[in-house]
Amino acid sequence: MQLVFRFRFVSVFFSVVPNFLGASSSSLGECRTRKDITIYGAYRGLCALRMFPVAQAQTRLVIDTSNIVATVDVDKFLCATLDWWPPSKCDYGPCPWGQASILDLDLEIPLLEKTLAGLAPFMVRVGGTLQDLVVYNVGDLLSTEPCVPFAFDPSSRYSYTGGCLHMERWDALNRLFMKTGTSVVFGLSALYGRSKSSAREQIVSPWNSRNAENFMRYTRDRAYPVVAWELGNELMGKGHTGKSISPEVYALDVKKLRRIIDKLYRQGVPKPSLVAPDTLYKLQDTDNIVRFLNASGKGVVDAVTRHIYTLGAGVAETSVVINNVLNDSNAKAEILKYKTIQSVLKEHPKTSAWVGEAGGIFNNGHPEVSNAFISAFWYLDQLGTASRYNNQAFCRQTFVGGFYGILDLNFNPNPDYYGALLWQQLMGSGVFAVDIRGGNTDVRAYAHCQRNSQSGVTLLVLNYSNSTRQRLDLSLVGYSADHNTSPSNFQALITSRKCEEDECLTSNEASSEDVRLEYHMSPANNSLTSRTVLLNGQPLLVTPSGDIPTLSPVKVNMNSPISLAPLTYAYVVIPGANPPACAASKTSGGRMSS
Ligand SMILES: *[C@@H]1O[C@H](CO)[C@@H](O)[C@H](O)[C@H]1NC(C)=O
Ligand SMILES: *[C@@H]1O[C@H](CO)[C@@H](O)[C@H](O)[C@H]1NC(C)=O
Ligand SMILES: *[C@@H]1O[C@H](CO)[C@@H](O)[C@H](O)[C@H]1NC(C)=O
Ligand SMILES: *[C@@H]1O[C@H](CO)[C@@H](O)[C@H](O)[C@H]1NC(C)=O
Ligand SMILES: *[C@@H]1O[C@H](CO)[C@@H](O)[C@H](O)[C@H]1NC(C)=O
Repeated sequence: MQLVFRFRFVSVFFSVVPNFLGASSSSLGECRTRKDITIYGAYRGLCALRMFPVAQAQTRLVIDTSNIVATVDVDKFLCATLDWWPPSKCDYGPCPWGQASILDLDLEIPLLEKTLAGLAPFMVRVGGTLQDLVVYNVGDLLSTEPCVPFAFDPSSRYSYTGGCLHMERWDALNRLFMKTGTSVVFGLSALYGRSKSSAREQIVSPWNSRNAENFMRYTRDRAYPVVAWELGNELMGKGHTGKSISPEVYALDVKKLRRIIDKLYRQGVPKPSLVAPDTLYKLQDTDNIVRFLNASGKGVVDAVTRHIYTLGAGVAETSVVINNVLNDSNAKAEILKYKTIQSVLKEHPKTSAWVGEAGGIFNNGHPEVSNAFISAFWYLDQLGTASRYNNQAFCRQTFVGGFYGILDLNFNPNPDYYGALLWQQLMGSGVFAVDIRGGNTDVRAYAHCQRNSQSGVTLLVLNYSNSTRQRLDLSLVGYSADHNTSPSNFQALITSRKCEEDECLTSNEASSEDVRLEYHMSPANNSLTSRTVLLNGQPLLVTPSGDIPTLSPVKVNMNSPISLAPLTYAYVVIPGANPPACAASKTSGGRMSS
């Protein structure tokens, strides 16, 4: 039944579109035809109805450009982890870390430098489970713990013992970071001076901050680009690492770290943020966050971080994991967490929210999903949601390493690298609310001021519908409140559907400004598990000279509809939208946390 209906629809599409494209004011009367979708393309103060046939009654996507609902820090927002896992870290058989550890990476590989530089200003998180074992070989005060390499030891709590960062290695890493415009959030060991044995889970003794302080001083003296110091990895409450620190004890630790940061970074030196507790957050853990922030006191923690692993284990069947990526319930459950954290932070206005680590699929990610085109339906959707709910950073697990790297182990970009690259080039700091009307749950959309522009708006829109039919309807409504139309009019417009009244139905004269720039992303071979992504139909591949390809849009007349193939996504730039809210907010700086 559904199929028959869709079939009919396709034929309608082809018979109607030519009329539609050629139509100007003569088609306006048809806008009132209830069975047609209305593409409500208010633009530059004009409001024009577009008509288009659709299987459902009406789907509209309304960007409320009258008001910025969140502001992200574009220098930090896009972030990915370099982890500590040695090559011997394997789950379920395969060992997907290779030489990707912070200690093993070959820093001379040109593609590593080019992929980092391509995303600049980009933030790398140095951290992960083993961060809480690592000793910094600053050359002094190593009395309590030896600085020795990681050694595999399945009987130990973390399956490894040891862990040592030599300063020569730290220097070399920072040369790469500085050369590529990368900033760093460094996850400090919270277990220094504390028991690491499997026997004792609950930690009550205080953190010994001595080694960390020496390391931080070393880093500060060299002006290395560490913009945030983070303490501990998944240790708070019922820790997910087999170690557990109560919110109150954790608060004592971060107060100690606060004093060190304040002491080391005085006037004239940019002060890194204090970030904690990097917890694997579930809604029932909210009380821990509340207790932790309350016990820390106001202004101590700059950013509260949580981790996201809600798509299941890497060992699951591919089809199961793909279902989890596409399942609306997962996305909704995550939105609830974002909202809850925001509501907790109302009491702590100086503290912002970060997603400190997000791999989606735990235990290394899943081959054919985390490293494939389909992953965008989780990752880019999360980037959109995190910014919509005012998170200032989103650290993808990983940059390279595991199956969830945005690079593969040869440093070739996986599809999500390009999705992130477009995000970085197009999505500015001001975030708009987007309303999808008509109950269509197959489309998700996010809109920001255009990056490095005061006049454009960028929309990220994903089509979760899996139908095999290509290029059916689209639903985009943009509105810009410009000099002719005040924000209040805009509200009235969308609520009363004033566009159905004649005075609103002015047709747009296409001018050179009336173009939209579209970047459509689809998988090679029409396979969701493809490792190659197509931009506007062309595969994105590192060039023969080893460079990251240029990402070019197609230009589309503003008056034509946007259409997404099933299970594809697109960034859409509306260069001439001119929302006053974007001019008012800085599109390239963003809010800095303390
Ligand atoms: C917040 O902290 C104060 C004092 O530090 C304490 O008296 C109060 O019970 C705490 N409230 C919560 C909800 O933990
Ligand atoms: C989506 O997830 C929810 C909650 O986990 C589950 O109840 C539902 O069956 C899933 N839907 C599909 C289509 O897999
Ligand atoms: C679309 O999704 C449905 C329900 O999950 C599934 O039964 C069907 O096989 C999918 N179709 C395609 C073409 O993937
Ligand atoms: C998404 O794909 C479905 C299936 O082909 C199609 O019906 C729908 O119109 C598409 N949505 C958009 C916004 O293009
Ligand atoms: C997938 O596409 C590539 C080129 O994009 C081609 O070389 C390859 O043969 C295709 N594979 C399949 C299974 O169609």
